[in-house]
Amino acid sequence: MTKKRVLSGMRPTGPLHLGHLHGVLKNWLKLQEEYQCFYFVADWHALTTEYENPKNIPAFSRELLLEWLAVGLDPERSVLFTQSAIKEHAELYLLFAMFTPVSWLERNPTYKDMIRELKQKDLATYGFLGYPVLQAADILIYKAQKVPVGVDQLPHLELTREIARRFNYLYGETFPLPEPLLGEVPKIPGTDGRKMSKSFGNAIFLNDDENTVRQKIQAMVTDVKRPRKSDPGDPENRCVAFQLIKLYSSEEEIEEIVTACKAAELGCVACKKRLAEKVVEGLKPLWERRRELEEKPRLFEEIMAAGNEKARNFARQTLEEAKEALFGTRWY
Ligand code: TRP
Repeated sequence: MTKKRVLSGMRPTGPLHLGHLHGVLKNWLKLQEEYQCFYFVADWHALTTEYENPKNIPAFSRELLLEWLAVGLDPERSVLFTQSAIKEHAELYLLFAMFTPVSWLERNPTYKDMIRELKQKDLATYGFLGYPVLQAADILIYKAQKVPVGVDQLPHLELTREIARRFNYLYGETFPLPEPLLGEVPKIPGTDGRKMSKSFGNAIFLNDDENTVRQKIQAMVTDVKRPRKSDPGDPENRCVAFQLIKLYSSEEEIEEIVTACKAAELGCVACKKRLAEKVVEGLKPLWERRRELEEKPRLFEEIMAAGNEKARNFARQTLEEAKEALFGTRWY
């Protein structure tokens, strides 16, 4: 029985943090059990917004792959690769561009949101408008049935389906229509209570060292209406650290912490110390695997090359098939 295929990608725009770990990577890890997974670094997609400052993209791309391996994505089971190493994506993207109406792209809500959010950047470019067409090529070239993404990506996925439908209608059944996989995404607050994000300066990065992690957790905002330990707290409603505690503790431990906090028996410093201990324990295997890989750069290169090779072989076949459907003959 052949497994269904999953495909997902991340843009290499900075180092990964706990939000990525719990919101995305844990889910990717789980999917490896059931699906044939393709995970890739979307470096061309990063270029659509970082074209003025693209020199960081290669380092961020390596960083992503390193962290993926460190969290336990298994290159024997999943195909880990880099978009720009597989030129076939670009060719399929070009073919899709020929029949994708501009109006589909202009009305895309994620496109409009991003232009609004990143107004310090000039995104009135051809490349940025075509962002979802490239994404459609990424997905369809592997004939992925399932695409794990966040809700913000749903409009892009709908466009992918429309492009697949239009191709199939014009040239004959070639692409399956991919479906989104919406995992439940726990809310990961940054140390200040806003969403964890590199640009807010409130993130705990996966490659922070042990002391930094402990310091950042100790600096997390707790119940501001509880200046002294002797004041009863309200962890569920007023404590940022508690959001993270819930993710790292058993039901019983959570019970115990809530009770002790409300009874003014457990102080915030001690409580966060316990939390830091757990987060550090959780990150240690990642740090260990990362260190091993950093000590063997050749092995890392080989793993990357092997992933690209597997992806390329698959992509090449689909591209051939698509061109044959389109031209009615094998044609370059
Ligand atoms: N647009 C996605 C994001 O910003 C990244 C991405 C590019 C992607 N191509 C993809 C995700 C294909 C899933 C499938 O997160």
